[in-house]
Amino acid sequence: MKNILITGGAGFIGNHVVRQFVNKYPDYNIVNLDALTYAGNLENLADLESKSNYTLVKVDINDADAVDAVFKSHQITDVIHLAAESHVDRSISDPLIFLRTNILGTANLLNSAKNHWTDLSQHLFYHVSTDEVYGSLGDTGLFEETTSYDPRSPYSASKASSDHLVRAYHHTYGMQIKITNCSNNYGPYQFPEKLIPLIINNIVHKKPLPVYGDGTNVRDWLYVQDHVEAIDLVFHKGTNGETYNIGGNNEKQNIGLVHLLCEAVDAKLGRPEGDAKSRITFVTDRPGHDQRYAIDASKIKAELGWEPKTDVATGLAKTVDWYLQNEEWLSNVTSGDYQKYYDNHYS
Ligand code: NAD
Ligand code: DAU
Repeated sequence: MKNILITGGAGFIGNHVVRQFVNKYPDYNIVNLDALTYAGNLENLADLESKSNYTLVKVDINDADAVDAVFKSHQITDVIHLAAESHVDRSISDPLIFLRTNILGTANLLNSAKNHWTDLSQHLFYHVSTDEVYGSLGDTGLFEETTSYDPRSPYSASKASSDHLVRAYHHTYGMQIKITNCSNNYGPYQFPEKLIPLIINNIVHKKPLPVYGDGTNVRDWLYVQDHVEAIDLVFHKGTNGETYNIGGNNEKQNIGLVHLLCEAVDAKLGRPEGDAKSRITFVTDRPGHDQRYAIDASKIKAELGWEPKTDVATGLAKTVDWYLQNEEWLSNVTSGDYQKYYDNHYS
């Protein structure tokens, strides 16, 4: 019997992971541990509330006693750790909460797992991480699993630090661990502070479309369900102690991506061609803005047979449709505190 603790399951990627594990593996008990910060939303999980193999616990990963109690009362056998502060811009304006949650929170979870699991070889701590730990690329080259870490924002430095701690528990205490470092995800339920949903939302409301710097920065985009399939595969079939890079093989300059979104949303809303593009606004660049991320995902393909299935045209069309059909979700999450963040950041 597996009792799997998934942290951060009320967030963007987390809710898709929880849904996959609850529905595909009815024999597993899934405990979703989430502090429900601004990025965690119970609306994302409404369809799972009645499932008998699903439990939500509202707990902060920094709260050692509460985390210990969850390990004990649910007899946790494995962890998939996604809980984090995840937005680079917020890490620039308020770095300390990133260090608390992403570094100390991860250390706290590792420690609870170590104390609770009597035979560490029987359990797995799976850490979900980012390609940003590798730094920034020039025009050529790809991040490989052996690329040296060179994080450059408080967010990526905190994630790099958490990766090191997970490896330290493996080498020092013999804990079974797996780490994946993934490129930029997109899809339903992504919080609209991130580029793709922010641009869709602003097109709908005829607001300026902010592009940082000259828009030539490159990201490698992956549809979220492809990431979930990779997590499922690594959890079940990946090798103890290993790291796997996950990427979409789908590099886009930000400005090119924004153009695609303008065309797609205008077409869906029956607006004249060029309407949204006329609102593209180049704004002050993100400090220390990494120029290019690109992933070599050949290891996970060779060893586990994973590759992305969703091409960008299909993935963006699904994403645009979801946001247009879920305007209430969007308006709920963009009101209140987010509106203050938005006004402050983009003023
Ligand atoms: P998100 O911001 O949408 O969700 C984060 C979740 O963690 C939220 O539900 C939030 O409530 C929860 N959380 C935050 N602080 C917490 C705390 N102290 N205790 C308990 N829960 C807490 O993030 P996301 O985009 O879904 O990313 C999930 C994970 O995947 C993160 O670890 C991130 O670094 C990693 N990742 C994200 C991407 C991406 O493109 N979004 C790519 C690669 C890796
Ligand atoms: O690479 C994986 C990472 O991808 C994850 O680890 C992070 O959690 C996730 O947030 C994401 O980080 P990015 O900084 O790449 O994503 P974001 O959506 O914030 O920005 C994507 C690109 O778009 C980046 O080059 C900055 C730019 N951008 C972003 C915003 C919000 C703009 O030009 N304008 C904007 O308003």
